[in-house]
Parts: sequence; C-alpha cells; structure tokens
Amino acid sequence: METPGGIMKVILHNSMSLDGSFIGIAANMELHYQAVNSFGAQVYMVGSNTTSRESIEQYGETVPPETASDFQKPVRDPALSYWVIPDTKGTLQGILHYHRRFEYCRDVILLISDATPAGYIEYLEQRNYGYIKTGSVHVNYREAFKQLAQRYGVDTILVDTGSRLGNVLLNEGLVDEISLVVTPEILAKNNRHLFEGVEHHIRLRSKKCETMPDGYIWIVFEIIGH
Ligand SMILES: NC(=O)c1ccc[n+]([C@@H]2O[C@H](COP(=O)([O-])OP(=O)(O)OC[C@H]3O[C@@H](n4cnc5c(N)ncnc54)[C@H](OP(=O)(O)O)[C@@H]3O)[C@@H](O)[C@H]2O)c1
Repeated sequence: METPGGIMKVILHNSMSLDGSFIGIAANMELHYQAVNSFGAQVYMVGSNTTSRESIEQYGETVPPETASDFQKPVRDPALSYWVIPDTKGTLQGILHYHRRFEYCRDVILLISDATPAGYIEYLEQRNYGYIKTGSVHVNYREAFKQLAQRYGVDTILVDTGSRLGNVLLNEGLVDEISLVVTPEILAKNNRHLFEGVEHHIRLRSKKCETMPDGYIWIVFEIIGH
C-alpha cells in the first residue's frame, strides 16, 4: 500500500491447526513470537477481542488497579513495536494499562471512529495514549494505516489477531502477506475457522516453508490477487 512515507507492508500472522482453527489449539508461543519478531514490524496490531479483559483472564492473569505512572507515556526502547488496537466502542476502558505495562510494548495506540464514546476519548487523553480517529462507525483502516506511516514513521504492520479483524483487512485488500505457524493437529468441526469471513477468492504465492521443532511448520504466502 502506498503511503506518504513510501510503501507499507501489512502481514497477517497466526498460529492455526491444519484444519484452520485458531482458538483452543496447541499454539507454541515461543515459535509464534519467533516468527512475529522476524518481520521487524514497527506496529504490532491486535483486535479488541484479543486484548479484552476476558482474554487476559483466560490466561490466568488479572488486571491490576491503575497507579499514577499509568497516566504517563512509558519511556521504552524505540526499536520496540507500538501496539495498535482498533477499539471504536471503548471496550478496553479501564484495562489499557495492563497492555501498556508489557515490557516489549513501546506504547499502545488506539484506532477509533466518529462513533467512539466521548468518555473513552477523555480516558485516553487523560492517560496520554495516542489515538487515530477515522471512519464513521468502524475504523477506516486504509486511512488509519496512512496516518500511522505519516505520524509514527511506520512501514511494516504485523497483525496478530483472530478472524474478525484479520478477515476485515483481507476483504479490504490491505494485507500483503499471510504468515502461519501450523500446529500439528486437526480440531473438532465446531471450532471457528481463521478465514471464516473472507468474502472473495484470494490468490497466493508461497514465499517460505520452514519446518520448526515438534512438528510445527511456518509458511508465508504473498497475496498476488483478489
Ligand atoms: N491463533 C492465533 O494466532 C490467534 C492470534 C490472536 C488471537 N487469537 C484468538 O482470537 C480470538 C479473538 O478473535 P476475534 O476474531 O473474536 O476478534 P479480533 O480478531 O480480536 O477482532 C476484533 C477486532 O476487529 C474489529 N472489527 C470487527 N468487526 C469489524 C468491522 N466490521 N469493521 C472494522 N473492524 C471490525 C474490532 O474493532 P472495534 O472494537 O472497533 O469494533 C476489533 O478490534 C481470541 O480467542 C484470541 O485468543 C488467536
């Protein structure tokens, strides 16, 4: 995608079972993040369901109370990625400090829209979170990506999320590459499928196929046509 700063690359990265399930799989987080880090993206993008309180609690964690330092931008290594989260409804109000405190997060930037509640924008401003406002109801991702390039010098975005956000980006033609760590298993048929919401035929060219330890395989495809 062309941006004011040049060409931006967007990579959709997931772990999935051989049959395309992405929840309840035997994901190997070390291998998953080894692949994530190999792309050197300045933005690590995740959906608001993936970062919700419910998801945090599923991993046995709890959101701690805020302290005064949660109102300041963290001072972190500029080589780290920004975490960019679309959250037009403000569902992450009260828990963003959990993500901001993560040592590998440069800071959290929110993507919001004209429909975002004013109280949530006030919450973001009081805590010095960066945000980009585009779109009337949902985020206009094309415009948001342009602003990420312009305001934050971003040329590579790595999206690590569930099917909802991933499929929206695929349907809007905003993804350049799909990177998958395939887990050696087939799940039961009632599981959600990673490409369940894709609306048109997408043509791919394989770019990488690497055998990883314990039967995992890492494959990368370039999108060559819609
Ligand atoms: N296997 C893996 O590699 C992997 C990786 C990450 C997550 N996961 C799992 O995936 C699950 C969550 O996935 P999910 O598919 O439910 O949610 P998700 O990918 O987190 O997607 C939700 C996001 O999509 C946006 N969105 C939804 N509909 C939209 C639309 N029509 N237009 C524009 N934006 C839209 C939402 O924005 P708004 O909030 O603004 O509506 C929200 O930020 C969790 O169980 C998580 O553990 C698996």
